[in-house]
This record gives sequence, structure tokens and C-alpha cells, in this order.
Amino acid sequence: MTSHHPIFITDALTLKGNLFLAPLAGYTDAPFRQLCIEGGADFTYTEMVSVEGLARKGEKTIALLPRAKDEKEYAIQLFLGELASLRSALAIVKEHQPTMIDINAGCPVPKVTKTGAGSALMKNPPLIMEIVRIIKEESGIPTSVKFRIGWDHESRNYLEFADAAIEGGADLLTLHARTRAQGYAPFAQWDCLTSLKTHLAKKGLTIPLIGSGDLFEAEDAVRMLQETNIDGVMFARGAVGNPVIFNQAKALLEGKEKPLLTATDKVNLLLTHLHTLAGYYDELTACTLMRKFIGGYLKGIPHAAKVKQAAVHALTITAYEDALNHLTVSEDRI
Ligand SMILES: Cc1cc2nc3c(=O)[nH]c(=O)nc-3n(C[C@H](O)[C@H](O)[C@H](O)COP(=O)(O)O)c2cc1C
Repeated sequence: MTSHHPIFITDALTLKGNLFLAPLAGYTDAPFRQLCIEGGADFTYTEMVSVEGLARKGEKTIALLPRAKDEKEYAIQLFLGELASLRSALAIVKEHQPTMIDINAGCPVPKVTKTGAGSALMKNPPLIMEIVRIIKEESGIPTSVKFRIGWDHESRNYLEFADAAIEGGADLLTLHARTRAQGYAPFAQWDCLTSLKTHLAKKGLTIPLIGSGDLFEAEDAVRMLQETNIDGVMFARGAVGNPVIFNQAKALLEGKEKPLLTATDKVNLLLTHLHTLAGYYDELTACTLMRKFIGGYLKGIPHAAKVKQAAVHALTITAYEDALNHLTVSEDRI
């Protein structure tokens, strides 16, 4: 449905809207999620969290779990390739009472897939069924699965995989419309979203389907909803450097004009991001973590390359501000 609308999950849970922030390892930490919520995200995901790491009580792994400020509803995304540690990991996850627990069946990174986790789960539909069943039984928390079209072109099994997840009790599905072999390029195959939605409808299933893949601008979200008839969209790389993409998409879906940003707005967003990071981490960590976002914010701003170079070496907030002061920003909307 091409509109901004709530997503019904269970009698006890309706998500307030259909514009989601994707899980992005190394990016969707609590401060970035906070910014995206301020920018209009209706529902957010932690980056993927290792079940093995939780079971081992790894400090860095456990640190990924808490909510961001004002994050009323969020999903904790888990990755696992076998059931052995799941129950002990869930005991820790439950302490945070996430709105949803999401299972990663899409990560293509060999370090993850060689353990049977991430997109390797797609080779094992009975296992996803069992994982979902155990999570629901053990936690009572709504459970979702994020998966791909298949392991590779020859083994595209997303319909069968969705069926298995649903049989296990899944409450929401997200399809990243690429195979594992495709990684993150080239184009996502949105027609698979249409096929899956049709497949579910034929079975009389109303489980919400969220789409992921090539949502770089707000307009892409509108187009995906229009072309595929799915229930919601999940911004991933499109939100990096533009955490207000959600509000932009919302405006378009409400028939309003897209609120465009000036270069000044972008620089201000960058600084807000930096200060938000500093609210969660120490200043040096905040400045270091900020580096991977700079390019996104400065994209489209003329002559930003030199400033980008200086900012990348900045170790204090003041040094960032100094570097950005050298930018000639206009009030043109970009
Ligand atoms: C740097 C990076 C990290 C990602 N981390 C995760 C992750 O932790 N869990 C997950 O399910 N997907 C992850 N993804 C996949 C995204 O959530 C999304 O499905 C994918 O980027 C396709 O959307 P896009 O083409 O609009 O970026 C990651 C993608 C990128 C580029």
C-alpha cells in the first residue's frame, strides 16, 4: 500500500508506521538510531548481535543491546548458525525487553556464513523454523526474519524460506531483494518482493512484508511501495548521512513536497550526529566513529573534499568544527 500507515503485528503490538531503519553493522548504534528516530524512523534495529558472543557474556556484544534515548520500539537483531547457545543468549536479550527479535539470514560475510549464520541460514529452512519457534517459546517476544532471495542465483528459495519462517511463528518478514552472491550490488530485484507478497496473499497470510534494497532516496521508498504492494520499507545505506530520509519519505507519501536540505542543514546534521555520539561515548571515540559518516553528510556539497580530509583526522569536537568552518556553504537546496 503506497501510504504511511501503521503495521499491525499482534493484538498487543502495532508499529506506528512503515518506514524502518535497517540493521547496519558498524553504523546503527544507539546514537545513530536516536538521530534516525528524530528524523522520522518508525521502527529501528540494532546492528547484528552474535548469539555466541552473548552466551559468552562478551562485553562488547552486550553493549550493542540497550535502547537509544527515546527509542520506544526497537528490534534486537541476532545472528546464529546453530541452536546450542540460543537459550542462554535469550536470557540476556530478554533483560532489554525489545519490541521484536529479528534473525539475520542475509549477512554475506564469509566469517559469518562459515558458521552457518547470516545468509547461510537460507540453505537450511528447517533451522530457521526451529530458531523462530524457540525464540518465541522462550521469550514471548514477537520475532521477525530478514533474509535474501537465496544463496545464489541457482538456489533462489525465498518463497520456501519465508514459508519455513512463518511455520516457526514469524510475525514479520523483511526481504533484501538480492542473493548472497550479489552482496550489495548490482540492482536489487524488487520483482521478488512482488512475488513474495503475492505468494503470501495466495495463502491468505497477512504477515507484514518489509522491503530492502536500493533505497537511496526518499522517492525510492515511494516507488518500492507502489511497484511491489508490500507493507513497508527499510532504509539502509540511504539513511547514512541522511537520517531525515524518513521524514522526507513520509512527506512524499502524504502527498506533500519533499523537504530538501541545504548545505548548512547537512553540516548541522553532521555536528548534531557528532554531539550525539559524544553523549554516548568519550570524545575521542565519538570523533573516530564519526569518520565513516562524514562522506554521507558532505555528499553534494561543492569543494567538500579538503574539509572531509581535515575532518577525518580531527580528534576533538573543536577540531571538527574548525574543519567544517572552512566549508563555503550556500543556502541552495541540494
Ligand atoms: C555496511 C553494512 C552493514 C550491514 N549490516 C547488516 C546487519 O547487521 N544486519 C542485516 O540484516 N543487514 C545488514 N546489512 C544489509 C542492510 O540492512 C540492507 O538490507 C542492505 O544494505 C540493502 O539495502 P540498501 O541497498 O538500501 O542499502 C548491512 C549493509 C551494509 C551496507
